[in-house]
Amino acid sequence: MQNIIKLHDKYFKVMIPAEQVDKAVSVVADRINRDYAERHTPVFVGVLNGSFMFLSDLLKKIDFNCELTFVKLASYSGTCSTGEVRSLIGLTTPIEGRHVVIVEDIVDTGESISHMIHELEKHHPATIEVCTLFFKPASYSKQLPVTYRAMEIGNEFIVGYGLDYNQLGRNLKDIYVVTDGK
Ligand code: IMP
Ligand code: MG
Repeated sequence: MQNIIKLHDKYFKVMIPAEQVDKAVSVVADRINRDYAERHTPVFVGVLNGSFMFLSDLLKKIDFNCELTFVKLASYSGTCSTGEVRSLIGLTTPIEGRHVVIVEDIVDTGESISHMIHELEKHHPATIEVCTLFFKPASYSKQLPVTYRAMEIGNEFIVGYGLDYNQLGRNLKDIYVVTDGK
């Protein structure tokens, strides 16, 4: 295993090996299996791009009938004074009256996930829960419940297993953390 890698201008080292990530995914999948066993065909909504690898491994461990769809939050600068405007794109599966599990790569300030919940609620699902691979409790500023958290970390910047640094690093199977030295 290569220990130090370079992405753009920064160096990264392994923080969480793939085997440990896999164990955390299994634990969270078991919880979802227990909680959703009696519910009618839940829908997993993956938030692109970051969640693709987590979602792929998570769903292989889900043992009830379920559906899968992917969405994206498109950000653009609005002309209004509130600045950034975000809209939901790609929701092709009807979710009205359904049990929805949003799958994210990482919840940091909670800004993205709160937009996502708000947008999905407009479609009147029966329930919405959030499942995230990583949760940064130190920076999370929202009151929204994030029910399923595979792993919690500090404020460090990480890449790998779907997470990127300016689009690089998503393909890495281990989780890497930014490091100062070489
Ligand atoms: P939030 O809106 O502040 O919760 O940020 C969520 C988004 O920021 C995630 O979906 C990621 O795209 C990005 N992000 C936050 N922290 C990291 C990190 O440590 N590595 C890579 N992306 C991150
Ligand atoms: Mg993301």
